[in-house]
Parts: sequence; C-alpha cells; structure tokens
Amino acid sequence: MSKHTAELSHRSFLTPSDAEKKTLHLEITFDEPVAYLPGDSIAIDVENSEAHVEKWLKKFDRNPHETVLNKRSKEELPLFSYLKKHVNLQSIQEGDLSRARPLMPRFYSIASSNSVYPNQMHLLVTLDEFVNDEGEKLMGVGSHYLYKEIGLGDKIGLKIYPNEHFRLPDPHLPLIMIGPGTGLAPFKAFLEERIYQNASGKSWLLFGERSRKSHFYYEEFLTNLEKTGQLDLSLAFSRDGDQKVYVQDRLKENKQKLFHYLEEGAIIYICGDAKMMARGVNETLEKLYGEKNGVGADEAQDWLRRLKAEGRLKLDVY
Ligand SMILES: Cc1cc2nc3c(=O)[nH]c(=O)nc-3n(C[C@H](O)[C@H](O)[C@H](O)COP(=O)(O)OP(=O)(O)OC[C@H]3O[C@@H](n4cnc5c(N)ncnc54)[C@H](O)[C@@H]3O)c2cc1C
Ligand SMILES: NC(=O)c1ccc[n+]([C@@H]2O[C@H](COP(=O)([O-])OP(=O)(O)OC[C@H]3O[C@@H](n4cnc5c(N)ncnc54)[C@H](OP(=O)(O)O)[C@@H]3O)[C@@H](O)[C@H]2O)c1
Repeated sequence: MSKHTAELSHRSFLTPSDAEKKTLHLEITFDEPVAYLPGDSIAIDVENSEAHVEKWLKKFDRNPHETVLNKRSKEELPLFSYLKKHVNLQSIQEGDLSRARPLMPRFYSIASSNSVYPNQMHLLVTLDEFVNDEGEKLMGVGSHYLYKEIGLGDKIGLKIYPNEHFRLPDPHLPLIMIGPGTGLAPFKAFLEERIYQNASGKSWLLFGERSRKSHFYYEEFLTNLEKTGQLDLSLAFSRDGDQKVYVQDRLKENKQKLFHYLEEGAIIYICGDAKMMARGVNETLEKLYGEKNGVGADEAQDWLRRLKAEGRLKLDVY
C-alpha cells in the first residue's frame, strides 16, 4: 500500500442527465508517473459535505470554532474540520462526540492501465443515492465528495492497494471477465493493458447494467474492440425488456463458448456486487458444469472450488 496526493483533472457523467442511477468517469492526475497494476484499487480520503456538518452543528447548537481533540491523531483542531474530515456523522446522530467513529476512506477499482496512462488513474463511480427514514434524498459520503465536494484541480489524498489475487494472466491465455455495473472498472484497465501488450489471448467481457441507452459505460471503446475482433462482448441490460436479464443469463446462452474458453486455459474474473451478482454467477457456473458433465451439485461445487484454488476463478467483489 502506498500513499499519494493527486489532482482531480477530469469529471464527466457517463449517464444522461435523466438517468435514475448516475455514474461518473473521473481522472486523477499525479505530478509524476505512479506505479500500479490492472486489478489494483485505491482508497480515497473522503470528507463529509459542508451542509451535513453545518446541519449537525445547528442541531446540537455547537460552535464550529471550538477546539476538539482528535483521539486517533492526537491533534487539536476546530470542531468544523474535525467533523468534516474525520468523523462518521452517522455515529454521532445523538450529538455525543465521545461516540464518534472515524470517517473511513472509500475504495474504488482503478479503471485504467498504467502502461497507457503513467501519470493518471481513471475511476468509474456510481453515485450512491438513497432516501433516509425522514424521507430526505441523500447521497453517500464518498459519492458526494467525488461528485460535489471537490472541484477540478483540487487535491485528493489516496492510498493504492495492490490486489495480487486479481492479476492478468500471461498474454497468450484467454480471459473471461464478468463485470456488471461498477464491476466493469478493472476490466477497462485489463483491456487497455492487453491491447498495450498486443496480447494473443482472447478476451470475453460480460457486462450488464440497467439500460443500453443510459448505462452502457465506455460504449465506444468496447464496441470498437468488438468490431476489430479484439473482444467478445456479451451485454445484459436488465431493464430494457419485459424480463430481467443478467450476465449469468448470457453465460447460460453461451455455455459452449464458456467451456471452449476454459478448455483453452481461460481465467474467469468476477467483479462487482458481492451479495447477489457474484452468488448468482457462481451458481450458474456450477449448474452449467453439472449439466455438461452429468454430475450433482456437490461435484460441481468441488469443481468451482478447484478453479478458485488453481487461480482460474478470481473474485473482486464488494
Ligand atoms: C474493493 C472495492 C472496490 C470498489 N470499487 C468501486 C468502483 O469502482 N466504483 C464504485 O462506484 N464503487 C466502488 N466500490 C464501492 C465504494 O467503495 C463505496 O462503497 C460506494 O461509492 C458508496 O460509498 P458512499 O460513501 O458514497 O456511501 P456511504 O456513505 O458509505 O453510504 C452507503 C449506504 O449507507 C447508508 N447510509 C449512509 N449514510 C446514511 C444516512 N445518513 N442515513 C441513512 N442511511 C445512510 C445508505 O444505505 C447508503 O446507500 C468499491 C468498494 C470496494 C470495497
Ligand atoms: N447503485 C448504487 O447507487 C451503488 C453505488 C455504489 C456501490 N453500490 C454497491 O456496489 C455494488 C455494485 O453496484 P453497481 O451500481 O455497480 O451495480 P449493481 O447494483 O450491481 O447493478 C448492475 C447490474 O447488475 C444487475 N443485477 C442485479 N441483481 C443481479 C444478480 N442477482 N445477478 C446479476 N446481476 C444483477 C442490475 O440489475 P437490476 O438492478 O435491474 O436488477 C444491473 O443491471 C452493489 O453492492 C451496490 O450495493 C451501489
């Protein structure tokens, strides 16, 4: 893990303004080339929104300039800065500062290849918007920080977290990348790196999101790769039809291709939602293996466990 300060150099929406779920493409620029590999993540030092801090100070009638001790760093600082930069505001909803939990950094997968962008990192960030118990429409701390709190040219504190279990294989080996939603992020980095390497191995990406019109992130990049024969692309836009389709449905439709890739030594990568998607994809892989080989669930689960143990099924899920 290495610590850095960098500048927010670009921020644009990948989704149209009327999209229910909004997603940003961000570029962070470093003064010098920075070392990272496809698959790595960063943890960003986020801050609470000014409006939330002010709301808390007003609610509990506290002076923003009073000095408080940050027990973790042992530094004394004005209450306003302490609340903005260091405290999880959810932990002090009753106003008791002694219960303050630290504001944790937020993790994001790096969505660019260092070989192509030596001084930069790209991020694919979906804004986490929700309605609280009082019916207020709110945004997650990290989402708000990256969308509104920091401006272009502002500095960002971050740590790079190497992800040794989520690395590209030898360039001649085929890849199966399953990454719906923000799970696409590391695969943009993977594909950029494979092109840079002039890799001979085939690449198959299974991407899913809500709708083609609003959520086909990096459409031009991906469809160009498909046109030039550098990428097999399977898309699952869950809300475009009468029935939901997910990436695992595309796996089912392409089961012959799946086993053909695996026979050629492919590595399967899964990135994105841990709770539903990764479980659904794992179950589908087991089911397809069971059907192909006429074996039961136990044997199919053993096969998946073996794939994982051999480093041929790699997960980066959250
Ligand atoms: C390894 C890893 C890689 C990741 N990569 C990416 C990526 O590439 N792109 C990406 O977009 N995300 C990624 N994430 C997810 C990301 O780290 C954040 O979890 C995500 O951006 C949401 O964080 P947030 O701070 O905006 O929301 P938070 O503030 O953490 O809120 C999360 C949830 O908590 C609840 N909540 C928060 N505050 C309140 C409140 N005041 N009242 C009621 N409920 C509340 C809500 O349900 C909300 O949806 C990754 C996570 C991990 C672990
Ligand atoms: N959404 C946010 O605001 C947000 C922001 C940051 C992080 N997160 C968290 O990060 C993770 C990824 O979120 P994300 O926004 O990248 O995408 P996501 O919520 O995982 O959605 C991406 C696509 O996956 C589909 N999907 C839903 N259930 C699925 C399943 N069981 N199997 C396969 N695909 C399924 C979705 O379809 P449908 O939605 O149409 O069912 C959508 O088409 C989740 O844990 C999420 O909670 C969410």
